[in-house]
Amino acid sequence: MVFANVADYREAARRYLPDFAWSYLEGGAEDAITMRRNRAAYESIAFAPKVLVDVSTVSTHTTLGGCEAAWPAVVGPTGLNGLYCRGAEEALARAAHAAGLPFALSTASTSLLEDVRAASDGALWLQLYVQQDRRIAEDIMARARAARFSTLLLTVDTPVTGQRDHYARTGFTLPLRWTPRLLWDIATHPRWLAKVGVHGVPQLVNLARSARLGAGIEAQAAALGRQMDTSLAWRDIAWLRRHWHGKIFIKGIQTVADAALAFRHEADGVVLSNHGGRQLDGALSPIDILAHTAAIAPRGAEILVDGGIRRGSDIAKAVALGAQGVLLGRAPLYGLAADGLDGARGVLALLCNEFDICMRLLGCTSIAALGADRLAAHGRVLSLLSQATHAAPLNVTTIAPT
Ligand SMILES: Cc1cc2nc3c(=O)[nH]c(=O)nc-3n(C[C@H](O)[C@H](O)[C@H](O)COP(=O)(O)O)c2cc1C
Repeated sequence: MVFANVADYREAARRYLPDFAWSYLEGGAEDAITMRRNRAAYESIAFAPKVLVDVSTVSTHTTLGGCEAAWPAVVGPTGLNGLYCRGAEEALARAAHAAGLPFALSTASTSLLEDVRAASDGALWLQLYVQQDRRIAEDIMARARAARFSTLLLTVDTPVTGQRDHYARTGFTLPLRWTPRLLWDIATHPRWLAKVGVHGVPQLVNLARSARLGAGIEAQAAALGRQMDTSLAWRDIAWLRRHWHGKIFIKGIQTVADAALAFRHEADGVVLSNHGGRQLDGALSPIDILAHTAAIAPRGAEILVDGGIRRGSDIAKAVALGAQGVLLGRAPLYGLAADGLDGARGVLALLCNEFDICMRLLGCTSIAALGADRLAAHGRVLSLLSQATHAAPLNVTTIAPT
């Protein structure tokens, strides 16, 4: 099979995975309005390339969250990756390292963070979900620190799981309920059954270890869902600081006002994200608040953005609008599901190559040169940039205390 682009990997993943696993990977919340909006936002942005620029030497190198990055991307955190292949997080970490990118491991990973570190010497970040029993998060952070994870992403858009209609349709629950529909789904995907299914339901081993839970996905899923700390609030950033001495990014910021609050609470950065359209359906595309957020960000604060990145040119658009880099969500997972480690590597190689080509076609020789002047200033871009131009500089005293 030829994989000419991310969409080819997506199609191979769709065919390989049982419906329940495919809809877990791909599905958005409710009517998937936000998920579609994420893509549409990139498609509506046009470039304004500069020609006759010497692009014989181009550097895509940058730093993200204090880590070297060969191009402005991070392999983002995704839970339950063991649904797609064995040793999934180890494979993602290796693929990211080979591509020169950091890898962010989810709290809901199906490999131990210590095993992921053993598999890769690359830059590793920890994504944190916080349970009511704070000792669980404290223990995960301590383990991650010991394993030389450098940057923490606190995900804040998931006090509860979004309404995902496709779970009801495909019968996806944790633990899996062995209905005739599910059994048929699995039986009709024999390649997946032989490679993944025969080994049983992947476990949330990381969470289980810190929560002192045994094997058994039921208790683990409860810890991730019902026992999530829905009281988590801005005041808790101070608690986080006591347990994490590396950089802290707040992931799941969806308004400029909340980005300002994150900076006021001395977050090192924000990830503008609607969780790939899997949480609040109807939320804006992060791209819509990117330029405005960049205009109010204090010096040194970083802005990452995610949702709908499927081409190297999408990365260029995000950087041109003021992001330091992007998080890749589903794209590497398509590769992982389609072809394991090779597939994850293949997706990253494609995106890297597309980004390099895009830089040269835009007449940019470095990330610093990739600014808003490479975007056609009409329609959507004009309105985004004019919001940013009129943005008041961040005045911390005007922000209401929380
Ligand atoms: C299958 C799947 C699982 C995810 N699990 C997590 C998670 O455990 N923690 C988290 O912060 N974000 C999670 N996300 C959201 C991603 O980190 C990211 O925000 C999103 O996927 C970006 O959108 P994209 O998939 O369109 O690139 C998940 C996304 C997917 C697709």
